[in-house]
Amino acid sequence: MYEQVNVNLGERSYPIFIGAGELNTIGDRMNNVGLTGKVAVVTNPLVYRLFGREVIKNLEMAGFRPFVIKIPDGEEYKTLNVASSIYDKLVEHRLERGSSILALGGGVIGDIAGFAAATYLRGLPYIQAPTTLLAQVDSSVGGKTAVNHPKGKNLIGAFYQPKAVIIDIDVLKKLDLRDIKAGMAEIIKYGIIRDADFFSYLEDKWEEMLRLGDGILYAIKRSCEIKAEVVVADEREEGLRSILNFGHTFGHAIESVTEYKRYRHGEAVAIGMALAGEISYRLGLCNETAYKRAKRLISKAGLPTEAPTVPFDKMFMAMELDKKILDRKMRFVLMKDIGKVVIKELGKGDLQSLVST
Ligand SMILES: NC(=O)c1ccc[n+]([C@@H]2O[C@H](COP(=O)([O-])OP(=O)(O)OC[C@H]3O[C@@H](n4cnc5c(N)ncnc54)[C@H](O)[C@@H]3O)[C@@H](O)[C@H]2O)c1
Ligand SMILES: [Zn+2]
Repeated sequence: MYEQVNVNLGERSYPIFIGAGELNTIGDRMNNVGLTGKVAVVTNPLVYRLFGREVIKNLEMAGFRPFVIKIPDGEEYKTLNVASSIYDKLVEHRLERGSSILALGGGVIGDIAGFAAATYLRGLPYIQAPTTLLAQVDSSVGGKTAVNHPKGKNLIGAFYQPKAVIIDIDVLKKLDLRDIKAGMAEIIKYGIIRDADFFSYLEDKWEEMLRLGDGILYAIKRSCEIKAEVVVADEREEGLRSILNFGHTFGHAIESVTEYKRYRHGEAVAIGMALAGEISYRLGLCNETAYKRAKRLISKAGLPTEAPTVPFDKMFMAMELDKKILDRKMRFVLMKDIGKVVIKELGKGDLQSLVST
C-alpha cells in the first residue's frame, strides 16, 4: 500500500510515492518515469551500509546499470569541492544524457546530488530517495538544490526538480529519536502555516508519530501535499513560497551562532517557530491561545522552544547574513492564527524591543 502526491508543474511535474517498503520499488518507479541505463547512486557510507545493497540489487533487477558514489557524512561536506568530486566520478563513468542520478540519503545528500544533477551536462534527470524524516517531508520536494559556501549555507544552488520522489517510511526505523523529533518540527510547521485541521491532528497523534506508529504515513503525505501546493503556486520563491521559511530566519541564525554543532536544523527551527509565535502575539497579530498552542505542541514533541543566551547583536548579524534582507528591513513570516501566516517587515529596533523585553 502506498500513497501518491503529485507536484503539478507542467512538463516538470513529478510524483511522490510514500509507503512502507518503497525502496524495493525504486527500479520500477524509475522505469515508469522513463529512465533507463546508467544510474549514479549518490549516498554516504552510513546510508549505503543500511540500504545501499538492497537498492543496487533492485536497480539491477529493473535493468539499470547502477554505480555508487559515496561522499563523507555530514553538513560540512555539502561543498563545491565535494560536488566537484561527484562530477569527477560522473565523467569517469561516462554518464551521458539519458543517464540519471539517484540521491539516497538525508537532506545533505539530496541537496548536493540534486545540485550535481542540475549542473552536470546542464542537467541530468534525478530521483530523490530521502531517508531522514526531515528530507522526506521537506528537502526532497520542491527542487531547491544547493551546496554551502564558507560564508553561508546554501549560497550556491539551483532550482531543479527531480523526476520522482520515493519515500520509504520503513527506513525511519533506523533513525535516532532525536532525528525523528527534528523532522517533526517541519511537520508541525506545515500545520501552523497552512492547515489548522492538520495541526489539531498532530496535537492528537504526536506521541504515536514519534514511535513511528499510526499517523506517520498520513503526516508525511499531508506535509508533502502542503509543500507541493506551495511550490506549485510559487516555484522560485517570488512570493508565497517564503511562508515555508516560518521559524527559519531565527532558526538559521541560531544554527549559525552555535556553529551548527549544538542543534539539529529541526531543533533550531523549533526554537525559531516559538520565537516567531511570541513576536506575532506581542505585535497583536495573533491571540495568546494560538501562540500558546503552537509552543505547547513543539514542546510536547520533545523539541526546544527557548533560544540560547546569545547577545542580540550577534544574533542580528547572523540574521542579516541569512539571505532574506530587503532594504535593511527583514521579512518575517509571522502567525495570524493556527493555519494562517502573514509576512511582515521588521527593522533592527523593532526586533530588539520584541525579543528582549
Ligand atoms: N532543499 C531544501 O528544500 C531543503 C529543505 C530543508 C533542509 N535542507 C537541507 O537538508 C540538510 C539537513 O538534512 P537532514 O536533517 O536529513 O541531515 P543529514 O542529511 O545530515 O542526515 C542526518 C544524519 O542521518 C543519517 N541518516 C540518513 N538516513 C538515515 C537512516 N534512515 N537511518 C539512520 N541514519 C540515517 C545521515 O547519514 C546523517 O548522519 C541541510 O543541509 C539543509 O540545508 C534542504
Ligand atoms: Zn527547514
